[in-house]
Amino acid sequence: MGAIDIEAPVSSALFDRARKVMPSGYTRQMAVQKPHPIYAAQADGCWITDVEGVRRVDFINNFTALIHGHNHPVITQAVNEQAARLMSCIMPTESEIELAEIICERIPSCEEVRFMNSGTEAVMIAVKAARAYTGKSRIAKMEGGYHGQFDLTETSFQPMPDKWGDPAAPNSVAHAAGTPQSVLDEVLVLPLNDVEAARGLLRAHADSVAGVIIDPLRLQLGLVEPEQDFLEMLREETSKLGMVLIFDEVMCLRSGYHGTQGRRGITPDLTTMGKIIGGGMPIGALGGSREVMSVFSVDEGDPKVKHSGTFTANPMSMHVGAVGMSLLTPEAFDELERLGTRLREGVDKIRTDLGLPGYVEGAGSLVAFVMHEQRIRCWRDLFDAAVGGLLQRIETYQKLLMNEGLATMRGGFVLSTPMDDEVIDFTLEGVNRALTAMKSL
Ligand SMILES: Cc1ncc(COP(=O)(O)O)c(C=O)c1O
Repeated sequence: MGAIDIEAPVSSALFDRARKVMPSGYTRQMAVQKPHPIYAAQADGCWITDVEGVRRVDFINNFTALIHGHNHPVITQAVNEQAARLMSCIMPTESEIELAEIICERIPSCEEVRFMNSGTEAVMIAVKAARAYTGKSRIAKMEGGYHGQFDLTETSFQPMPDKWGDPAAPNSVAHAAGTPQSVLDEVLVLPLNDVEAARGLLRAHADSVAGVIIDPLRLQLGLVEPEQDFLEMLREETSKLGMVLIFDEVMCLRSGYHGTQGRRGITPDLTTMGKIIGGGMPIGALGGSREVMSVFSVDEGDPKVKHSGTFTANPMSMHVGAVGMSLLTPEAFDELERLGTRLREGVDKIRTDLGLPGYVEGAGSLVAFVMHEQRIRCWRDLFDAAVGGLLQRIETYQKLLMNEGLATMRGGFVLSTPMDDEVIDFTLEGVNRALTAMKSL
């Protein structure tokens, strides 16, 4: 999450305790901050209060999951009611059907859906489904693409220059030490936004590749966007070559009522979901066409893919998820879009007025200011920009925003439904002061 430069003695003391019982004091490395993290105490609406008693606007929203912010009264009531009624059991519940109905009604690719407990798990099951459906074993993914913590799809998430190889045919690079070569061999790494090179690779490996997975909105914290012609090429080639196209919408489903696939007008065969669909509870889901999802069918005996799990489709996540999704009406998405656009335009105006290089990106409730002159189109551009000063600028910006009462995802803003114009005004004032300070550094 970056670095802080504020006095936080209570957090510092908690971190000393944590270091005695967890590796380096953490159980989620995405929460790492130097010299120590700021510990949370409580939250309300779009505001989060740390153990020092400092309130900030929460623009992280648990890494995009909390689209209703914190303590939404309807969601809190749903949690309490369901906890009192039934927390988990082996029998299916009506809530599971309700949530599945909501997803199938809204998300174009989803005729059927199954649930899990995290986005990572959804990706793992999607890979199994693609393999079982096609009879092939390998998975293609983008260099720099993030799909959770499964070693297969984590391949080449952040490869370094000494390993990454030919830009038109990237190497398959391990993300975790000790990843077996056999895992890396099962991954075909594609160069994002290089239409012809990626098309050539898919055609050359058509006999072994079962599916292609891509986050259709953003890679790397909003900094790199898959271009429309690239996504269209993937749809066309996967259909022709007998591969399953998987949109990983774990994060970007929040971009609109019909997800990013609705926004982009491209329908994949499978969609992985998570985060917002749980209303704040842990969740994952895999949806897709009836035909591909038939690999889970038990109608004629043993399914091609076996899938269960102790807490799978647990009534807490199902009920709270259905309630949270029901609150996300088309009007709720319109309002998030309006506030997101106000913030994007406001940040861009501040940037222009101050004469700062860069561009403002995002869609719907996601807003990112990319402090780099040239458009970043792939992982390698991003890496070059990062070592060329972008990373340092992002860290400084994030710290300055933190001191303005704005908790951001490395300077990126993730909006939630409790936010309003007043919060956007407060935010733009903070951004103005932070960027003015950055200009004079
Ligand atoms: C695109 C994408 N896929 C998968 C995941 C993994 O989801 P989870 O953290 O719920 O396992 C994430 C999480 O941020 C994500 O952004």
